[in-house]
Amino acid sequence: MASHVGTTVVSTSTHADVALSLATWMETTNLTLEHRRFPDREAYIRIPEEIQPELIGQDIILVTNTYPDEQIVQSILLLQALEKVIRSHPSKSGTLTIAIPYYGYARQDKQFLPGESISSTTLATHFSMHCDRMAILDVHAKEPFDELDLEVLHPTLIPEISEFFNSGIEIDVVLAPDAGSVERASAAAKLMQVPFTHLTKRRIDAHTVIHEPKELDVEGARVLIIDDMISTGGTIIRATQSLREQGAIEVHAACTHGLFTAGATERLLTSLDSVVASTSLPNPVARIDAGKAIARCLSEAGPPT
Ligand code: R5P
Repeated sequence: MASHVGTTVVSTSTHADVALSLATWMETTNLTLEHRRFPDREAYIRIPEEIQPELIGQDIILVTNTYPDEQIVQSILLLQALEKVIRSHPSKSGTLTIAIPYYGYARQDKQFLPGESISSTTLATHFSMHCDRMAILDVHAKEPFDELDLEVLHPTLIPEISEFFNSGIEIDVVLAPDAGSVERASAAAKLMQVPFTHLTKRRIDAHTVIHEPKELDVEGARVLIIDDMISTGGTIIRATQSLREQGAIEVHAACTHGLFTAGATERLLTSLDSVVASTSLPNPVARIDAGKAIARCLSEAGPPT
């Protein structure tokens, strides 16, 4: 009978903050793996010899993102190397969970046009060959993972976002900027005990589309927009303009994944009263602990079966 000794969180220094938080919340060990880049940017990784004995037979949680692109290759190399070490003892059987704070390539979750690659599924299929379980924080769409032949956990930052606003900023209404964010934003509204609405598009004529909150008056309201990710900021800025036109007195935005491409933070902070993201990616407004959300989910789930 295989024995499971305990849980260890590992990562390279790139994801050290989330890994340390996760290990702290799970009250377990955190070890750092070696990584560097060759001059041509190819990845080199290594599990230092002195920590290899500590990993054998353990339930290992590897914290790693799939963004930017170079992290994808590095994650596959790390998984393959860890798999070999933890299963290297004949009588001790370890497990391997990949915990992904930000899963890049999630937005292509179906074939929109013939001939496209479903990038979300393609990446997950590669990872699933080298681990027992995946845990992905607030992934854009969960459906692609249903097809995989391994357990996939979906931790969410919603309790942490709610807690952040409940203990600091008065909010009257939570708003989802589009249909894809309704599930997450409405769950947050419920925890914050405030009304929820989402933006709908109303076509006025061939050239004009109005974005307006569905069946809710935001006149005089302090509104919090919740989305899974902010990239260019376009979605949030359009929603903010519409809310201001309809009389909202404050507009705040929260997301799990702050990509903030091409000066998005500056543009957002000019239009909004505040913007906050989690620590799933490094950015100037990363103030909500992604490690805590992943730890809650993994602690509830226990080791992979
Ligand atoms: C889209 O479906 C996502 O949930 C986000 O709303 C979107 O990716 C945000 O992108 P941007 O900040 O560029 O508008």
